[in-house]
Amino acid sequence: MKELLKKLTEVYGPSGNEGPVLHILQKELKGHVDSMKIDVLGNLIVTKGRGKPRVMLAAHADEIGVAVTHIDKNGFLRFTNVGGLRPVNMLGHRVRFQNGTLGTIGEEKRDSLKDELKLEKMYIDIGARDKAEAAKRVAVGDMGCFVQPFVDTGSRLIAKAFDDRVGCAIVVEALKRMRKPACSIFAVFTAQEEVGVRGARTAAYGIKPDVAVAVDITGTGDTPESRTMAVGLGKGPAIKVMDGGMLASPQVKEALIAAAKRLRIPYQLEVLIGGTTDAWGIQVTLEGIPSGVISIPTRYAHTPSEMVDARDVENCVRLLVEYVRSL
Ligand code: CO
Ligand code: ZN
Repeated sequence: MKELLKKLTEVYGPSGNEGPVLHILQKELKGHVDSMKIDVLGNLIVTKGRGKPRVMLAAHADEIGVAVTHIDKNGFLRFTNVGGLRPVNMLGHRVRFQNGTLGTIGEEKRDSLKDELKLEKMYIDIGARDKAEAAKRVAVGDMGCFVQPFVDTGSRLIAKAFDDRVGCAIVVEALKRMRKPACSIFAVFTAQEEVGVRGARTAAYGIKPDVAVAVDITGTGDTPESRTMAVGLGKGPAIKVMDGGMLASPQVKEALIAAAKRLRIPYQLEVLIGGTTDAWGIQVTLEGIPSGVISIPTRYAHTPSEMVDARDVENCVRLLVEYVRSL
């Protein structure tokens, strides 16, 4: 699974540009699912099994990134954020565009380091000598994402875009382990989550599931002077109670807790202040769909170096398989 995590986190795939990610997922799932299709918004929808209920699993394929807004006469790119990005996490980092163009992020002079760092005062330098040279390699609207290698420290893993490629990998691994599911599984690797949970809504509308589970990352409260949050790395999958967008449907939350207890794996209850997941969009689709979330505890979310615990990841796979088995 670490091989897959490395592939999925090192690939390029900001919101709306999920193609390279879906390509890896399709190759990985070949022979393990009954059907695969990519829909209008760019969601990859795969199915497995044909019984009742209809279960939707969602993990978003997109990642946060930047979009070029302007190229100045000296060839520097101005940019805006694609998804939730903090300027302080970006300076000195490298970004890559779909065609392979690389650049580094710089900033205009600041009178005092106490002055707030703002995106408008930052730029991407792709090494071009002037606008004409830059324009040969990038165009306004092109999107870039961070560049960072996948690192395996043994117990913990560091990479860009664990949000939500770790969720994608968990769903892939769970699908492989569910040999003959008794229900109909619709696993959706969703598009455009980071810009407002867009793909998950249209996918849920089309699938009309009886129940849905999103698999996505959540924050932790276990680093120096971090915000208080009762979720930590290595303490098991987090089962969502609420976040900035939703209250998890009680029956899904309870069923996930029961599944974790049957497996005798550690789990944690999650209340996330701010932020949400695909489950938010799914839950309020159609006449309402019971929805819950398995969250992977993740440090440094939305930075180029997110960190997860390898045992948590494995336990998320087991929890998802057991939950679906019990439906
Ligand atoms: Co995110
Ligand atoms: Zn996410």
